[in-house]
Amino acid sequence: MQAKTPKQSRTIHTDMVLPGETNPINNLFGGELLARMDRAASIAARRHSRRIVVTASVNHVAFNRAIPLGSVVTVEAKVSRAFKTSMEVFIDVWVEDRESGDKTKANEAIYTFVAVDETARPVTVPELIPETDLEKERFDAALRRKQLSLLLAGKIKPNEATELKALFE
Ligand SMILES: CC(C)(COP(=O)(O)OP(=O)(O)OC[C@H]1O[C@@H](n2cnc3c(N)ncnc32)[C@H](O)[C@@H]1OP(=O)(O)O)[C@@H](O)C(=O)NCCC(=O)NCCS
Repeated sequence: MQAKTPKQSRTIHTDMVLPGETNPINNLFGGELLARMDRAASIAARRHSRRIVVTASVNHVAFNRAIPLGSVVTVEAKVSRAFKTSMEVFIDVWVEDRESGDKTKANEAIYTFVAVDETARPVTVPELIPETDLEKERFDAALRRKQLSLLLAGKIKPNEATELKALFE
């Protein structure tokens, strides 16, 4: 299986914030942003694996900045690391200034997808080779995040989270 780079999975989704998508104070509803991020991230995971993919976990979401009604929002997703059957996908969210067109980072999230066959059984995915400094940084930290996610899900024991333990030693 041929290795791929993060840019081969890069997926960009740009859309406006419309009235039905806001909370009572006219900012984008968190669940709407989660759905937009899930869609873009699932396409990125599909581009990397060329398989059916399912969301296994949402490892981290930071709603750092409120996004007002009428904003133009860009969601950018890229696979940040591939393991055996799972892929970590990093999502950056940008808001575009109407007058200058400058983009400001509003939020970010990290999702995990698993590639599956038609019977929903996990299947192996290509290796990911990071290229830029940021991609390398995200790649290096991904194993810690995977162990933390598995630990929180009760799928591994604390003594199996070797990368996490190493942080405190
Ligand atoms: C995700 C799913 C395929 C995992 O199945 P499973 O029986 O746990 O399979 P495995 O134990 O072999 O795990 C498969 C991979 O997922 C990873 N994984 C499973 N749960 C995870 C979690 N909570 N966080 C991070 N990775 C996880 C495993 O580490 C493994 O990765 P690897 O092969 O790259 O090392 C299965 O739980 C599923 O189908 N869930 C429903 C998905 C879905 O419908 N999503 C939409 C939400 S409505």
